[in-house]
Amino acid sequence: METKEPSIPQAQFADGTVYLVGAGPGDPELLTLRAARLLSEADIIVHDGLVSSDILDIAPATTQRVSVAKQRSRHSMAQDQINALLIAEAKKGRKVVRLKGGDPFIFGRGGEEASDCIKAGVRVEVVPGISAALGCAAQAKMPLTHRNASSAVSFVAGQCKGLSDQNWSGLAGKGRTLVIYMGVANAEAIVEKLIADGAAPDLPVAVLENGTRDSFRALRTLLTDLGDLVQREQVKSPALLVVGEVARYGDATDKFLEYAQMAGVEF
Ligand SMILES: C[S@@+](CC[C@H](N)C(=O)[O-])C[C@H]1O[C@@H](n2cnc3c(N)ncnc32)[C@H](O)[C@@H]1O
Repeated sequence: METKEPSIPQAQFADGTVYLVGAGPGDPELLTLRAARLLSEADIIVHDGLVSSDILDIAPATTQRVSVAKQRSRHSMAQDQINALLIAEAKKGRKVVRLKGGDPFIFGRGGEEASDCIKAGVRVEVVPGISAALGCAAQAKMPLTHRNASSAVSFVAGQCKGLSDQNWSGLAGKGRTLVIYMGVANAEAIVEKLIADGAAPDLPVAVLENGTRDSFRALRTLLTDLGDLVQREQVKSPALLVVGEVARYGDATDKFLEYAQMAGVEF
């Protein structure tokens, strides 16, 4: 397949390597064996805010750690500074682990970091991680596809600028599952957008908060009541919105089952 990256002769690569490593959604037991090995071998770990201390603790206490935590509308380090740091450390010959929540290539800016490193002559390896959608769905026992309910899944970013100019028609509806990352703060606008683009207001919705962590919650309602549920339950990031028939499946605590029943969701 044609690559967009410039081809750099091997001899020109720096001695160090940048490993873009997926840390999964929170539970350290969901790390891959390769991720755990690289954490124990790294010279420096450059990590996101969503990576839990349990995971960072896998590395020896002496390993250098740099947090580049990003939060909605607050960045502790700009993306180009992060890229420059990765490149500079690898050019010193160091083994650089760039540790990201979930998977590096799902809403993780892994593509930008990989391109900049390759352009700078730095070797890159990518270690996939369990994305939040997969971790949350497993914990909620909610299949993202199901022979009776859904044969397609879309992952969409809900905090995107210009939401009203995007075309969301066909993303949510019969026979399909829509998983929205970073959508909690925009829940009301997302509901309006989906309904304006043709989604039925009575589609089931699940809100999956703090997936694979002790504080996990799975809340269910109907699309039209999503904004209300998010406010009433004070849902906080990190959380996913899952829209579609599959939201009827899986666990729900009695309290949320009650809300769902009030809203007319059948289980
Ligand atoms: C910048 S994106 C990173 C996604 C990540 N690369 C992945 O593959 O899961 C951050 C968003 O992922 C979702 N997320 C990450 N971890 C989560 C978790 N443990 N539970 C629920 N949602 C999570 C939330 O929507 C959060 O706002």
